[in-house]
Amino acid sequence: MTADIDWGNLSFTYTTTDYNVRCYYRNGKWGELETSSSETINMHMAATCLHYGQEAFEGLKAFRGKDGKIRIFRMADNAQRMLDSADGVLMARVPVDLFMKACQKAVELNSRFVPPYGSGASLYIRPMLIGSGPKVGVSPADEYLFMVFVTPVGPYFKEGFKPTNLMITRQYDRAAPNGTGPFKVGGNYAASLASGKIAHEKGYSAVLYLDSREKKFLDECGPANFFGIKNNTYITPQSKSILPSITNKSLIQLAEDLGLKTERRPVPLEELETFEEVGACGTAAVISPVAKVDDLDTGKSYVFSKDGQPGPVSVKLYNKLRAIQNGEEPDKYGWITIV
Ligand code: PLP
Ligand code: COI
Repeated sequence: MTADIDWGNLSFTYTTTDYNVRCYYRNGKWGELETSSSETINMHMAATCLHYGQEAFEGLKAFRGKDGKIRIFRMADNAQRMLDSADGVLMARVPVDLFMKACQKAVELNSRFVPPYGSGASLYIRPMLIGSGPKVGVSPADEYLFMVFVTPVGPYFKEGFKPTNLMITRQYDRAAPNGTGPFKVGGNYAASLASGKIAHEKGYSAVLYLDSREKKFLDECGPANFFGIKNNTYITPQSKSILPSITNKSLIQLAEDLGLKTERRPVPLEELETFEEVGACGTAAVISPVAKVDDLDTGKSYVFSKDGQPGPVSVKLYNKLRAIQNGEEPDKYGWITIV
């Protein structure tokens, strides 16, 4: 009863599914969860999301296991992060229970779009929260819409689990040091579009951003966190302007389980050349191993994969993470919700 889709050739694009779920915040409280089969939203032209960027979203995935069960990965963590994003741009907070119920319902209603086990594809869940009430002065809305849609996806970077290339430029910032970088709000992605376009035009998968203040430390990639491996240690940047990635947090735990040391600390650009393996990690990117980083301003290239293959630690981390998501390894940490 799965949908008629060429699962093995899906990329990270939008595919129409059957339903989405919605909930409105009016008069200071959340209403009932509603089901819709419409792909459009009717809203006031003065809605704050349209003018003043009162918008936050999340990204998580559901997987079909070998046992046929559907598993959602770390939904409670995404719910928590949406609370932080709501606080960050003064929106109504979506209660954790409502968030999880909505995600579960959206997956259940669209279960025929959860890709088959072994296809390499997954069902991407996109919760979003927008200021829907009208304002013309710069101030938070009185009304909000929380909704969840889902869409089946393949790999975010076209290479999938094959190494990909990144570029560094000092000509663009993604987020300011005391700005909205740690929140998953639309404005951060708007700020990354122009540099992302340059990266794609030049054949890179993404920009590896340096810290905006000094341009001395590694921050993250446009749509994913950064990690490096050396001396049996998993190292990932600590920074006030990056999104706290749930995949990264999971990899830190799995790295420890594999006997690696882990460090979350500022990572100076000079350290880049000392890594044995480098990767971008995130829900959409999973682990995208990095073959090479080119610094366009200095002309320096940092090469991590000469043979086009991911490094051994990245392979182990990737396999472990995917095995938990598919239900092939025990869910020791309570990361999985079975739908
Ligand atoms: N950094 C940015 C800017 C992102 O958009 C994402 C995607 O969600 C990530 C990192 C990875 O976060 P997560 O692992 O929670 O998906
Ligand atoms: C995700 O990994 O869920 C993301 O949101 C990254 C990108 C699609 C914005």
